[in-house]
Amino acid sequence: MAIDVARDGYVATVTIDRPEALNAFDAPHLEALLALLRTLRDDRSVRCAIVTGAGDRAFSAGADIKRMATFGPREGRAFAALGHAVTKAIETLPQPVIAAVNGYAFGGGCELALACDIRICSENAAFAQPEVTLGIPPGWGGTQRMPRVVGPGIAAEIIFTGRRVGAAEALRIGLVNAVYPADRLPHEAQALAARIAANSPRAVRAAKAAMSRAFSGEPAAGLNSELDLFGAAFATDDQTIGMEAFIAKQVAEFADE
Ligand code: CAA
Repeated sequence: MAIDVARDGYVATVTIDRPEALNAFDAPHLEALLALLRTLRDDRSVRCAIVTGAGDRAFSAGADIKRMATFGPREGRAFAALGHAVTKAIETLPQPVIAAVNGYAFGGGCELALACDIRICSENAAFAQPEVTLGIPPGWGGTQRMPRVVGPGIAAEIIFTGRRVGAAEALRIGLVNAVYPADRLPHEAQALAARIAANSPRAVRAAKAAMSRAFSGEPAAGLNSELDLFGAAFATDDQTIGMEAFIAKQVAEFADE
């Protein structure tokens, strides 16, 4: 288990490294990422950060479904709150953060990428918010950040269907800024980060701080409501059915309300 960090000049690259679970996050990995973000926040020698996934299959497959499967509402809410702390720490990091999405970015993985300032991806990347197929709504900020990035109508379709969005579509809808062959993605992410890092760090930080206010107002209320709804989903049969079906590698069948 690891959240790794590597430095190249002014750029810090953070790698989610849990390949046996396609870099899905359990609580210790979230806590490790949060602790690392706190050290980066105070490190003036870091002018830009990159977040990526270890291996060539996944950025992150999201929250750890095997851990969540037995959660009740309080644990569900607490887990979402930890995910919120991490995504908020990315969003409010004074330095810009680039998500280099190298494969699956599903559920919480997609939400992590959405909290970054800029997303670029590999040709084999795929994005999704598949939570509704698991009997829960998105819980790490996707309900608030996805509509801002791609617009409310497209966000609604992505979130309500749980379907996959491939790299070409992600580029078309503005979910990513650029798509590269998988073997070039790390280099392109580093080049973009280095270009940002060559600018005035104070001016870049000021620009990020000012841009964060472009959407201030409603998000806190929206995020609180997301926390409540995510926690409450863990009191439903759908959550049990959806997650048990995933673990058993079966398709979930949900009953009428
Ligand atoms: N949690 C726990 N384990 C996971 C996982 C997850 N999110 N995603 C993948 N894994 C595990 C698999 O169970 C499997 O483990 P075993 O080898 O022990 O069986 C291993 O990682 C490899 O995965 P697959 O065999 O499933 O690989 P695949 O190539 O056939 O499929 C995939 C890849 C399409 C990404 C598929 O793994 C998948 O659908 N994963 C779940 C993605 C998902 O639904 N994410 C959302 C989680 S909910 C969430 O994130 C809530 C929120 O808002 C915070």
